[in-house]
Order: sequence, then structure tokens, then C-alpha cells
Amino acid sequence: MTLPLSADVIMLASSGRSVLWHARTGRNLALPPGDLDDPSPGLLDRLRGLSMLADSPPPDLAALYPARSRLVLTLPDLPALWLPRPHHRDAGGHAWTERRLTANELALWRAMNGARTVAQVATRAGQPLALALDFLARLTGPDVQAVQLLPHPARGREPALARLVRPDRPPAPRTADQHGAEGQTTLLGYHQQAITDGATHFDDRETTVAHAFARPHPALGGQPYGAALHRALEARGLLPDDGPVLEIGPGTGELCAAFLQRAGERGLPRGEVLRLDASPALLATQERRLPGTRGILGSATAIPLPAGSVALVLCNEVIADLAAVPCDARDPSPGPEAAEVQARIRRYGLSPLPAEQGVPLYNLGAWRLLEELHRVLRPGGTAFLSEFGDLDELPTETRQLDHPEVSIHFGHLLQVARALGFEARCLPLPELLELDTTARWLSRHSYEGLRARFRAEGRHLEARAWTRESVPLPWPVEGLEEVTVAEEGPAPVPSRFMALLLRRGLQ
Ligand SMILES: C[S@@+](CC[C@H](N)C(=O)[O-])C[C@H]1O[C@@H](n2cnc3c(N)ncnc32)[C@H](O)[C@@H]1O
Repeated sequence: MTLPLSADVIMLASSGRSVLWHARTGRNLALPPGDLDDPSPGLLDRLRGLSMLADSPPPDLAALYPARSRLVLTLPDLPALWLPRPHHRDAGGHAWTERRLTANELALWRAMNGARTVAQVATRAGQPLALALDFLARLTGPDVQAVQLLPHPARGREPALARLVRPDRPPAPRTADQHGAEGQTTLLGYHQQAITDGATHFDDRETTVAHAFARPHPALGGQPYGAALHRALEARGLLPDDGPVLEIGPGTGELCAAFLQRAGERGLPRGEVLRLDASPALLATQERRLPGTRGILGSATAIPLPAGSVALVLCNEVIADLAAVPCDARDPSPGPEAAEVQARIRRYGLSPLPAEQGVPLYNLGAWRLLEELHRVLRPGGTAFLSEFGDLDELPTETRQLDHPEVSIHFGHLLQVARALGFEARCLPLPELLELDTTARWLSRHSYEGLRARFRAEGRHLEARAWTRESVPLPWPVEGLEEVTVAEEGPAPVPSRFMALLLRRGLQ
């Protein structure tokens, strides 16, 4: 049987599924494969309810409740809508476009609060119903997706109003130098050559939690990330009186700057500050922000410092960049990198990872870094590391970044650290930083919309944990949405991150 669909229904593809789209209401329904050929009575009922069948009564548009997409921003001074283009891509996501409004259309748009019917919206805006219907007809198509006409008032933050029906996002392309002969990630070349603009790299290519919270933020009690980290380490007695302090992979140096500012206020630790980084461009950016500190070009897994020479190490969001190696723990003839993994599985008593999704990845680079930390830290020295992952996380390559970072199995890391002789503790990063996960930031899509608008005007919007009050807007914007920092915002969600705290024994 083939479905007898209404002439207003369009078939689209999204996330590997067929989606039926009603062009007059903007409402849509994703179908599991096969459902079109053999629709169940339940499906037919749903389709009829959505006015999608040829024999269903057409929707009474004037009696429906127009609900605005949560993605659309309003630029009242033009006036215009600033909308995503679901089927067009550009850097960092879908493209955005401007749709100019007449003053009457702006009045209609503003009157759509999700609780008024189309007829009530027209009355409220002082416009004829025909104009409202004509305006809505241009906002409900699959290439616009700005409004859905609901049979009931919109309920709170309807998730359907924050989703686009669009083709799947293709995985970011990989360059040949990002994987080695055994399939392991090798990102040294990326850090040495592909990072060219230290000032904007963490806005445009990879936003870290520390970058997003580099400015004082309500979620951190009004402090920047680096100061909150200093406070957390001080509270746990993990700050030495004297340095040297070594930050590995300091990025822009903002974390370090805020850490050192609080260190100056509290009087600890004193002494030399070293920065180790694989990226010459980032070392130069750090140099400008952190005068008086010493930059070292080198690798985190072969630290060019003598044994026992460092008192405190900070290493924020670096270890996912280090080599992750595919390894079958029982392979009798492994390649050289997999052999290193197997040797450490035996040495540290690690449990092999399940192979349900193919040959598992192991965080060999992160283990090597722990070995290096054990060498360079002086007895009693301490370290803080953070990264995305979990105690039992199967290391997984990211698809969205322009380089393959791999999440961290913190359970293994903890075991390696303890086997090396560290006193070690792992906890969620928000717990360590006392990050208030009920505090708010701009939603991911509001931030992306603003960023796209800034770009369209040749401006740059940094990727910070902006709130409606703190975001530096050159013009008024309506429709900006805030969510809690436990939800998708301008940066990765902090609750995806763990912190590892280490203290080297005194012997
Ligand atoms: C994702 S960024 C994190 C930057 C900063 N710590 C933050 O949290 O915003 C990774 C940093 O580690 C550096 N890095 C990556 N791999 C490295 C390696 N093998 N050796 C030394 N530094 C490395 C990068 O150049 C960059 O500064």
C-alpha cells in the first residue's frame, strides 16, 4: 500500500529517516523505515490528525496556534527576521539568512506568542486575517521552518520548536596526517601547523570550557575559570607554596592569567611559571598575555624538563588531543603502538575494553603523559587534568571538530595514576569548580544565530558563556534564548568533563 497523502505534504529526509512535512502548518512527522509501504492504523490516525492524508479534512488555519521556532531571531531595528537555512551549510553549521519585514508583519510576528490562534494574532496586531495567513504561508515551508501551527497552545519550551528538519551533518573531513599507520590519532602536525590564529582559534574551531568561562561568570560565583580552579585546588590543599608551575597546553593563556592573578592575591604558589605547548602560534598568543612566564615548544608526552623539577602541573582539555590507539588486547602480533597499549594493560592491570563497536581505542597518549608527570613532578608535587569523558567511557573519536579528538576513559587513567604511585582522585569538573549548573547562558542555537549575524557583517563574536546581559550586541535582538549551563550553549556542556587530581608521593 502506498500512502494517499494530501497535496500539501512534502517528503524530506533527515537523520536517515523519511519526514512528512505539511507545508501549510509546518508540522512534521518522522517515519521509521518501511512505514510508508505498510502504515499501521495508529500511523494513519496520526497522519489524519496532522491533516496529511488526501481524505483528511484540511486544517482550519485561523483556529490553529502559531508557535515561533526558538531558533529565529528578530532584528527589530531593520525590521527583519534572522533565520537558519536548514538545507544550506556554511562554516560551523547551517547557513543563516535575513528576511525583511514590513511594519505590519513585525506586528504579526510579535503577536505570535504561542497562546493565540491565527485569528487572535491578526486581531492583536490590528491586521486583516488574510494578511496573517499570507505571512504565515511564507514561514511554514521546509526551507524556512520559522513557525508551526499547533492545534493547542504551545507548551513551555516545546522541543519541536528548537529542531530543524534537515539533512544529516556530514562528519568533518580528516587530513591524512591526523591518523598514523595503525589508525591511531596523531595530532602533533595539526597543532604545529594547522593552528595559525591563536586569537580566534578557540572561538571558531574548538571552544573549550575554560575559554567559554574565561571571563567572570555567575555560574562560577562571579569568577573566571582560572580563579575558580585556583580556589578549588587551594581548598583541597593541592597548591604548593612555591613553583615552578607548569601549564601544559595553555591555549590562549587565559586560564593561566586568571589563575596567576588569584595566586598573586593569595600568595601561593610563588615562583616560576612555565608553559609547554606544541603550537608555535598559541605559544605566541600566550607570550603576549603572560609576560614573565617561559614558553617551551614541545610535546606533552616527552616533556623537555628534568626529573623532579616541577611543583604543580595544570593540563586543561589537552589529553583528548594525545594519541588514542586502536588495539585488540588479544592480538598476538600487534603493531608497535598497539604493543605499547598491550604492555601497559598488563603492567597496570587494566581491563580490556569491549569490542562491540569495532576495535576499541585506548588513551595511550594520556597514559604516557601521566608517566611523564610522575617523572617531572617533585615528591609531593600535584597536578590537575581535565577532559571530556567518564570513568567507564569507551574512548570515542569526535566527528564535529576539524581534528579527531578522543574522549577519555577516566577509569583507566585513575588506575594508571595509582599504579604509578600517585594519590589520585577523579570527580566531575562542575563539582570541583563548584559550578552552579542552574546558572544560565545563551542556548547553542541563539549563540550560533548571533555568530552568523556577526559574521555576515564582518564582525567577530567570541565563543563565551554569554548571558542575555553580557553578550556585546551592536543592535537590539529579540528572541535570544537562555538555558542552564547543563544544556547546550556556546561551549561544550561542562558536565561532560571530569577532573583528575594527582599528588606524587613523598618517596
Ligand atoms: C584544546 S586546547 C586547550 C587549551 C586550554 N588549555 C583550554 O582549556 O582552553 C589544547 C592545547 O594543548 C596543546 N597541545 C595539544 N597537543 C599537544 C601535545 N602533544 N603537546 C603539547 N601541547 C599540546 C594545544 O596546542 C593547545 O594549546
